[in-house]
Amino acid sequence: MIWKLALLGFGNVGQGLARLLVEKRKELKRKYGFEYKVVGIYDIKMGGICIKDGEVDLEKLLKIIDGGGMIADYPGASKDLNALGLIEMCQPDILIEMTFTDFETGQPAVTHCRQALANGIHVVTSNKGPAALAKKELWKLASENGVQFRFEGTVMSGTPAINLATGCLAGAKISGFRGILNGTTNFILTKMEGGMTYDAALAEAQKLGYAEADPTGDVEGWDALGKGVILASTLMDTEFRIKEVPRKGITQLKPADIEQTKKEGKRWKLLVECREKDGKVALKVEPVKVDLTDPLASVGGATNALTFDTDVLGPVTIIGAGAGRKETGFSILIDLLWIHSIARGKPLLEVGE
Ligand SMILES: NC(=O)c1ccc[n+]([C@@H]2O[C@H](COP(=O)([O-])OP(=O)(O)OC[C@H]3O[C@@H](n4cnc5c(N)ncnc54)[C@H](OP(=O)(O)O)[C@@H]3O)[C@@H](O)[C@H]2O)c1
Repeated sequence: MIWKLALLGFGNVGQGLARLLVEKRKELKRKYGFEYKVVGIYDIKMGGICIKDGEVDLEKLLKIIDGGGMIADYPGASKDLNALGLIEMCQPDILIEMTFTDFETGQPAVTHCRQALANGIHVVTSNKGPAALAKKELWKLASENGVQFRFEGTVMSGTPAINLATGCLAGAKISGFRGILNGTTNFILTKMEGGMTYDAALAEAQKLGYAEADPTGDVEGWDALGKGVILASTLMDTEFRIKEVPRKGITQLKPADIEQTKKEGKRWKLLVECREKDGKVALKVEPVKVDLTDPLASVGGATNALTFDTDVLGPVTIIGAGAGRKETGFSILIDLLWIHSIARGKPLLEVGE
């Protein structure tokens, strides 16, 4: 089968994915039997294209974009396409949702996902909105329509936190997790420990592209919390409303707090913590003084880390990138390969293949 892909949103993640698909095309076919054609792309800023009998030449499109152009400059680009039109007109097998995250409503991404799933189209997304606010509904819709809703990239980008917990740790009971899930705040805290002020560290994070012009979502803990909600609802079978979860960011930490904590042989980390106790699951986000012996203490800069508490293995920690064009593009590739493997009823890699 040649998978027909439609890409919705063509910013950092969309372009990162496109580059990976081009670079790895031969290897994906040889190693996993995964073949694809991109039948449509739509981005509200860059324009859209839908090619029913053929495919978008990603190499050609990326050259146009590298030269300062847009999707609208690709031969045959459509002026009339929109997000729902992409699903209807291009009729993909898999919709890849990579538009912006809205933690208030999840929209318009939730509608994009609903529309695709209801039409028997698999959905892969890096968008935290649908996974944090509507995962249960979207999973049900996917199951009713015989397709999958996957969202590896919503937590730790391409570092496979969700697939590790739901796949590799299947059979173990996960009674909680604790992690550094926001790279921007970890970068700022690391710099502050090195002697920088909060403002200087934030300015450097912005210069390096880690923090947005308005850093509220990161520094006030909303982004980390959204990821905590996604993990808790996926692994602990508990739904949380984002606004009801206790949350503190890092803005109240002063250089004196950092110095004092250093003297205590500890280090501040913005942690997402989820624990099950007496049948109740509690979730929170706050800065925590972590002992230097804790695996999370040594995770510096923009790197993310997550420890799962399991009944069989005790703590299991995964450390890796938490953001980035290619890194998050890779999360989409992981999910595409899982859809492919499940659809063909064979493991991704078989001995002798
Ligand atoms: N970048 C990362 O490292 C990372 C990591 C994990 C998860 N994510 C998530 O992945 C998603 C994509 O991230 P990104 O970094 O690629 O963002 P981005 O660079 O801002 O790209 C998103 C693109 O989607 C477009 N868009 C917005 N609304 C749309 C709509 N209704 N229909 C079609 N296109 C629309 C945007 O246009 P406008 O700019 O005009 O709005 C933009 O071009 C986000 O939800 C983000 O939270 C990103």
